[in-house]
Amino acid sequence: MTVAVRSKISGLGRNVPDKVLSNADLEKMVDTSDEWIKTRTGISERRIADDGVTTSQLGIPAAREALRNAGIDPEELDLLLCATSTPENMFPSTGCAIGHGIEAGDCPSFDLLAACTGFIYAVSIADNFIRSGSANNVLIVASEIYSRIVNWKDRSTCVLFGDGAAAAVISRSDGSSGIIDSRIHSNGAYGDLLTTGGVASRRPVAGRAIEDAGYFLTMKGNQTFKVAVKRMTDVASKLLEKNGLSANDVDIVIPHQANIRIINAVGKSLGVPEEKVFVNVNKYGNTSAASIPIAMYEAVEEGRVKPGDLVLLVAFGGGLTWGATLIRW
Ligand code: UT7
Repeated sequence: MTVAVRSKISGLGRNVPDKVLSNADLEKMVDTSDEWIKTRTGISERRIADDGVTTSQLGIPAAREALRNAGIDPEELDLLLCATSTPENMFPSTGCAIGHGIEAGDCPSFDLLAACTGFIYAVSIADNFIRSGSANNVLIVASEIYSRIVNWKDRSTCVLFGDGAAAAVISRSDGSSGIIDSRIHSNGAYGDLLTTGGVASRRPVAGRAIEDAGYFLTMKGNQTFKVAVKRMTDVASKLLEKNGLSANDVDIVIPHQANIRIINAVGKSLGVPEEKVFVNVNKYGNTSAASIPIAMYEAVEEGRVKPGDLVLLVAFGGGLTWGATLIRW
């Protein structure tokens, strides 16, 4: 089936903090063990941003690298989307700060809050801006500092998350490669499964009053797990079907990196063999909106994605939100 393609990923960038927090380090902070974390989540270590580093500062090097790889100057951007659920302020947006940092002039920018599905939401918006003729080049920067909103005394959540950023330039495509289609969803009925009252990662807070006020991230892990597997499988299957494709056509799945058991369960339900599912949750934990573009960057770097490959991105996050994107690389 021939599918009209109007936009493509023309450049990727990544920036993760140097500081590594291992499971052994966490054993000294909360009542947990390397074995429990690895068995239940697949995570061995995660990165932590230095004190004082802001969400935009983490995103800017990734943005610059993506622009360099795309061969695009910041002045050529028509839109800048910052996918984050840890914005440094409520406003000015983190996107505006990134635009200023990369010298994107008066390029329109806003923050997009769809938690771990943020990158897929942003790709869908960028693709539609380009298809409609409103933009030629869109920069997506996914940057997250979850270490500022997790409760480091709560072993059921603090072992899961990490910090990181990645960026993608989406450009008009005249060839046969590019973004085929996306599907995005949300349902606030599941809102209490994964929440945070916290804002402004630039000003992290601590103390009992803050905990009581619901600042920190909370999660009903078991329920989230079940809904995640079902929704991710459903959305990916429907997207494939709508485009006349099946799981057999997929060369690589790059799923949101939250938990190896979720990733394996989704791969199994879709009928995609393990070797076609990209995993790097072991190195970074769950970096929310940044997880898929960091994984995509590394999949390309490792030669796991080749020109012509059919790539399936699929994610799930607080909101609840979920979505999938199909790309002909
Ligand atoms: O982007 C989407 C983000 N959300 C997710 O990815 C979350 C999805 N959920 C999960 O990944 C899993 O539910 C978790 C990894 C969070 C938890 O795994 P689980 O197999 O669902 O464990 P559980 O919550 O049923 O807890 C089992 C036991 C409990 O002890 P008891 O009640 O059996 O004595 C917990 O208290 O494990 C205990 N536990 C821990 N033990 C050691 C919970 N956290 C820890 C820990 N270390 N860090």
